[in-house]
Amino acid sequence: MSTISIATAAEVIELLRDDLAAIETEFASQAESPVQVVTDIATYLIAGGGKRIRPLLLLLSSKALGCTSHSRIRLGAVVEMLHTATLVHDDIIDEADTRRGRPSSNTAWGNAKCVLAGDWLYMQSFRWALEERNFRVLDLLISLTQQMVEGELLQIQKLGHLINEEEYFDLIYRKTACLFKVSMQLGAAVANLSPQTNGIPAFDEPLGEYGRNLGLAFQIVDDVLDLTASEDVLGKPVASDLREGKATLAVIHALERGTGAEREAIRTVLADRSFEHVSHASILDVLHRHGSIEYAMDTACAYAEAARLSIADIPNSEAKRALLWVPGFVTSRDR
Ligand code: IPE
Ligand code: IPE
Ligand code: MG
Ligand code: MG
Repeated sequence: MSTISIATAAEVIELLRDDLAAIETEFASQAESPVQVVTDIATYLIAGGGKRIRPLLLLLSSKALGCTSHSRIRLGAVVEMLHTATLVHDDIIDEADTRRGRPSSNTAWGNAKCVLAGDWLYMQSFRWALEERNFRVLDLLISLTQQMVEGELLQIQKLGHLINEEEYFDLIYRKTACLFKVSMQLGAAVANLSPQTNGIPAFDEPLGEYGRNLGLAFQIVDDVLDLTASEDVLGKPVASDLREGKATLAVIHALERGTGAEREAIRTVLADRSFEHVSHASILDVLHRHGSIEYAMDTACAYAEAARLSIADIPNSEAKRALLWVPGFVTSRDR
């Protein structure tokens, strides 16, 4: 493996500042509808901020392959808009009342309008993607959307049930890691490098694999933060997964190792979908007793490292150095 240093946060910001600003402008310009309420909801969501990690990945992926065309800006806005649409629908499904430190859109406008606004955002992201006149781009986005919807549906089916690790990883791949993977693959698609094999661009595989590994790490950390963070820092409800009947990695680990009474306590919360009979603190005690939070974080770190290794063979560049920085950011984040 070639030796190349990991970029610092400051270097990554410097490398991407102009492109990220251009994506914000593009994103805002795409969020206007003749029907005011759609524009209002879209504008509200954009103003709420967010980490913008998916466009960041798309930019780094395309930059690592030398892409300078406007496509990277347009598709950066596309993936962020698609992500925004999934958040609108996800907060309705999860009955979440906060997002990015503010009332979630469903709280502010109600479910009915937000379902439709989410649909509009989905279609708007596809409309902009269509401007690329690139079938590979559409192919990736359509498969992605189906995977994400299937992921949310599978999750609903499993609510309140004890799932195993294999089912957990299948779920988080579909609902989260797939979009990370596709963001990276879109970067390769717009870089338009030759040779292509059956319409698949060069470096699609390692970059996609990086995205998949990073996305798995990202959702494992999201699930740990749901258990351990405070709402003030996280900007969205905490302990909500257990309250919604979702067993995430640390909980699955504890269920496999706990005593009869401990397992019963976890089962009760998942079945009740509330902490009425067993407190959040007592579940955290069980998780800490069995090193389950640590286990989940170690697993996230292993995927983060796997992400770094995935791109060992892509050419060295500033963008590659930045890609080596992102996994550490993902596993050490607190929101
Ligand atoms: C939230 O994604 C949804 C998950 C996949 C966990 P982010 O944590 O990237 O949300 P924002 O965009 O930064 O708010
Ligand atoms: C979200 O998973 C995945 C999406 C596709 C939106 P979560 O339900 O854990 O995301 P948050 O915690 O609400 O952001
Ligand atoms: Mg949610
Ligand atoms: Mg979550």
